[in-house]
Amino acid sequence: MPRIIVVLESIFKQLVRRLTFLFSALIGLVILIALILVTYKKEPIIEQLDVVNQTILEWDSEKLIIDNPEVPDEVKQGYYLVAESSKYMGPLAKEPLKRYAGNNLSCTNCHLNGGTLSGSASWIGILERFPQFRGRENKIGTIEERINGCMERSMNGVKFDETSVQMKAMIAYIDWISKELEDLNSKNFKGYPAIKLPELAVDLNAGSQIYVRECVLCHGKNGEGIRYEDFDKGYLYPPLWGDDTYNDGAGMHRVITAAAFIKNNMPYLQATWEEPKLTDEEAYNVAGYINSFQRPEKQNKTADFPDKKLKPVSTPYGPWTDNFSPKQHKYGPYPPMISFYQKTFGLTKTK
Ligand code: HEC
Ligand code: HEC
Repeated sequence: MPRIIVVLESIFKQLVRRLTFLFSALIGLVILIALILVTYKKEPIIEQLDVVNQTILEWDSEKLIIDNPEVPDEVKQGYYLVAESSKYMGPLAKEPLKRYAGNNLSCTNCHLNGGTLSGSASWIGILERFPQFRGRENKIGTIEERINGCMERSMNGVKFDETSVQMKAMIAYIDWISKELEDLNSKNFKGYPAIKLPELAVDLNAGSQIYVRECVLCHGKNGEGIRYEDFDKGYLYPPLWGDDTYNDGAGMHRVITAAAFIKNNMPYLQATWEEPKLTDEEAYNVAGYINSFQRPEKQNKTADFPDKKLKPVSTPYGPWTDNFSPKQHKYGPYPPMISFYQKTFGLTKTK
């Protein structure tokens, strides 16, 4: 072989070696960069997501309460009482002595997401507000008395003894969510955010049309709700009127309170405080409509609000300290009544 070819060949081989080296170095570099991108870039994104998750945590009863080993037993008991009330304190309770609620509702049918949702009378942080003055009894009331208020009216049942295990468990639950799930209550707010009150009385016809359009699917033609197939589990969609729901002494039986709840929370999973579906007027008309039907009667309602001028104007049962008709108390219009109380007694009424 001529010498020149041998030299060329060795130069060529060297070139190939160098190119191979360069090439593998390049691939190495690409892999390195890719690795850096994966580890370096992804890490902070995951961390960011975690931060977001912590501040706008989703309500998830299994994850946060039932399967959470950090939750004390008493708190879990409290959770079952408020979220599966029918089974643990109501008509479906196995032992008759444990039946305190008279209907098959759960507390959390009105205090949504286990009592953590802003705009649906969340329980987060409320213990700090008790004891507080209550017009219905005209005295300073405790949290136990407030819960018993919902027991006798919203749950159409009887009071718990204030030292009972059930009462203690429910308060332990309220205390626990206030401390551990504080962030779920995105807007610290008491009760249901108010609606702007229409100048006219409830229009029951309009209410009935809204009911058919927005509510009947879940709550039924006769407001009877829909049960789970497994009867023992109570209601998938709770009843709004008839024998198995809140009684006529309940807050939800006042048009103004019901309208505020409905505006911010119904139709379920479509309306939120941030993005309601119904207008104030629609919520008001449909609230009047659902409250126009027969429901359980609370006994001895005349004793409510010993100082009658403290009675909310939309309380549909008498006696009152004014000359407005029972019909106007039930269906409005409310603005004239509100200005009457302002002028006559210097009282600012919101409901
Ligand atoms: C039919 C609906 C309904 C049911 C069921 C219900 N509540 Fe209520 N609850 C209300 C309404 C309405 C209010 C008053 C909200 C407002 O301030 O406008 C209220 C208020 C409360 C408050 C006071 C909240 C505050 O911000 O001061 C507590 C505590 C409470 N309920 C606990 C319970 C418990 C515990 C149960 C079950 C044993 C229960 N509720 C069942 C409708 C209901
Ligand atoms: C997609 C089904 C659905 C629709 C539609 C719906 N709701 Fe509800 N509603 C529910 C559920 C579920 C609850 C109980 C929420 C819970 O337990 O978390 C509820 C609770 C209620 C409550 C309180 C509990 C009770 O039984 O009194 C009222 C009042 C209510 N809805 C009124 C309405 C009105 C009025 C409409 C129409 C504007 C409406 N809902 C539309 C599913 C629905």
